[in-house]
Amino acid sequence: MSLHKMSELSGRRILLGVTGGIAAYKSAELIRGLRKAGAEVRVVMTEAAAQFITPMTLQALSGWPVRQNLFDREHEAAMGHIELARWADLVLVAPATADFLARMAAGMADDLLTALCLAAETRICVAPAMNQGMWRNPATEANVTVLRQRGIEPWGPAEGDQACGETGPGRMLEPEEMIKRVVRLFSGAAMNGVRVLLTAGPTREPIDPVRYLTNRSSGKMGYALAGAFRDQGAQVVMISGPVHLSSPQGVDVIRVETALEMAAAVMDRVEGFDIFVACAAVADYRPLEAASHKIKKEAESLQIGMTRNPDILAGVAALPKPPFCVGFAAETQHPEEYAEQKRISKCVDMIAANLVGAEEGGFEKDENSLTVLWEGGRVVLPMSEKSCLAEALVEQIAKQYGKTDTAQDS
Ligand code: C5P
Repeated sequence: MSLHKMSELSGRRILLGVTGGIAAYKSAELIRGLRKAGAEVRVVMTEAAAQFITPMTLQALSGWPVRQNLFDREHEAAMGHIELARWADLVLVAPATADFLARMAAGMADDLLTALCLAAETRICVAPAMNQGMWRNPATEANVTVLRQRGIEPWGPAEGDQACGETGPGRMLEPEEMIKRVVRLFSGAAMNGVRVLLTAGPTREPIDPVRYLTNRSSGKMGYALAGAFRDQGAQVVMISGPVHLSSPQGVDVIRVETALEMAAAVMDRVEGFDIFVACAAVADYRPLEAASHKIKKEAESLQIGMTRNPDILAGVAALPKPPFCVGFAAETQHPEEYAEQKRISKCVDMIAANLVGAEEGGFEKDENSLTVLWEGGRVVLPMSEKSCLAEALVEQIAKQYGKTDTAQDS
């Protein structure tokens, strides 16, 4: 735990929920680490958690009585579950069992921890820990999907040997990793109040009322970026093409279909934004005219005349007072060279290049790697899950944007 500076979490109030799994013994270490980093920690345990670790241990480590009971007259009078929920800057449930995730997903309030999670208006994080079969069970998957839709992205679980002797996903993240994440969560002030406009996903260009041209973009990178900006305190508006993803909580999502609609949605709103990130895979061309009725298969061949779509990114960058502009360059070869040409020709501040069509990374995949270029600088963000990559990219954008922002202020 010595890796953490004393002040990193100073003044932060963390409510640690402990539920009944074997990983509950790691909660003791988690409390010590959080307190060493300066946080104030109060603990709420479920009845089952007390079968795995004693309230006395967690009380001694947190320095506060451990709360266990929703119907506790003494505490409900002094600091009830609502006040406890309001007190916290962060509710962290670690370990979070399959049963707890199910009850939370269902919005139940049948014990103190679920009741205060339901009452909490602050951020809630959960670190699942369970047998690999329970984690993979469609019931748990469905519950986690519901929680994700509510903006509760599970931390972990990690894969590896399990207490039951099986191997697979279901191990709780190590306390050290969780403390790092908590620190990262609270150090997000760098983007506080910054207004970010993003485009994401593909566009659909109609050929006739039932057919369209599109591309393989899943929207995952754009949606992950929107979430990462939000986590860093930014106010985020995302103009999204058609994707099968739910809107990240706290992000204002405007759904469009065609490139022209996306361009109009961006141009109508862009004024007043500090940062514009063009993550959408906008169709370069659209059919000259969409047929008003379904085209019949009568002729032996069919030609569809196409016309160029407006370049949204270049359009925003050419505004008299453009926001800080970030573009993407998805290429099947020489990504860095093409990206650098694009950065210059479109007059954008930063461009993130990635290789598509390869075995790893790119469109429709959960993982990606990026080379980020700006005037006089370059950084490679290695292959990782799109949510981690988005965090790293936002960090780079924050650095470069911070430079231009202070330059303008001085
Ligand atoms: O020129 P190319 O399409 O490769 O450029 C990619 C970058 O430009 C991406 O950031 C993409 O979102 C943006 N773009 C745009 N409008 C277009 C085409 C691309 O904003 N019509």
